[in-house]
Amino acid sequence: MALEPHVAAYTIWAPMNIAVLKYWGKRDPVDNIPLNDSISVTLDGVAAPLGTRTTIQMRPAESDSIAISINGVDYTDCLARKIERIMDGMRQASCIQTRFQVSIASENFSPTASGLASSASGFAALTAALGLHFKLPINTGLSRFARLGSGSAARSMAGGFVKWTAAGDADTCAVQLHDEFHWPQLRCIIVHFNSHGQKEVSSTEGMRRSVATSRLLQCRIEPEGMAEKARRFEEALREKDFCKLGPLIMQDSNQFHAVCLDTYPPLLYLAGESHRVIKMVHRINEAQQPPVAAYTFDAGPHPVLFLLEQNLGAVLAELQALGLDAKIIECRVSGGPRVC
Ligand code: PMV
Repeated sequence: MALEPHVAAYTIWAPMNIAVLKYWGKRDPVDNIPLNDSISVTLDGVAAPLGTRTTIQMRPAESDSIAISINGVDYTDCLARKIERIMDGMRQASCIQTRFQVSIASENFSPTASGLASSASGFAALTAALGLHFKLPINTGLSRFARLGSGSAARSMAGGFVKWTAAGDADTCAVQLHDEFHWPQLRCIIVHFNSHGQKEVSSTEGMRRSVATSRLLQCRIEPEGMAEKARRFEEALREKDFCKLGPLIMQDSNQFHAVCLDTYPPLLYLAGESHRVIKMVHRINEAQQPPVAAYTFDAGPHPVLFLLEQNLGAVLAELQALGLDAKIIECRVSGGPRVC
């Protein structure tokens, strides 16, 4: 359908990302300022795309209004408020001051709100599309706007390996550590359990509860310890050293879920099947030197395994042998958002 001449339209594809050093806890819950540094890998599916494609249409109007459809379902309320804040920030940063009637149509190619980062690619795609309209370049500078939608979206504004530092308050931005070509042998397998849908406690509510009640969280975010941990992650990534990286990933995921358990009431994101995969990974790593796989879990039960390409076959066979009721999704490191 042809657009009216004064209506502008933009379509963006944005990838998902999975944190290897997890962000958990907000210093400022409105602006999504994190309490700790995080590091992620930007990912796309090997067999089918994983991420979000978003089209926006911008029609000049007297006041802002926003209509949102995600996978064909209409959304309003809190999402619209977040998008208004992103637009206000971009208006301040650009020379375009006009108000708009915005219609947003998003298609998510990842399991929405199941604890697998769909809000990251969703807000990254939307931010990049709005950035095009406000004539702001698509780069990590836009991550301070993406962050207003969802913290982890800040890291989907770049491809490859990305760090989001807690320092910097309102200007806290993600930075690219290495691009997507840095470590082509690094692969990832997402195990998405069919019997687990939407997560029971959102990450926003989970973080609020952990900040209010978990003393273990206070130990986790202690500045010197956190800086040293981030430094070790960066070193392992720079050197492309899976022997160093694997244990760091697993220990950080375990510590994050220990904080969840230390939260009151506890956040029980892992399921029985998650523990079966954890045990399987330790079993095969003990049998093999150097280790072949590392697991990490976001705010949900679905394991994400990192491994080197040469071990894909062996790890997939071990997963098959567990007989899980799950979709097994192979991924590789991806570039950042792009115009479609
Ligand atoms: O920003 P959110 O609401 O997508 O929270 C992300 C929280 C974790 O996925 C558990 C960790 C992370 O750093 O992505």
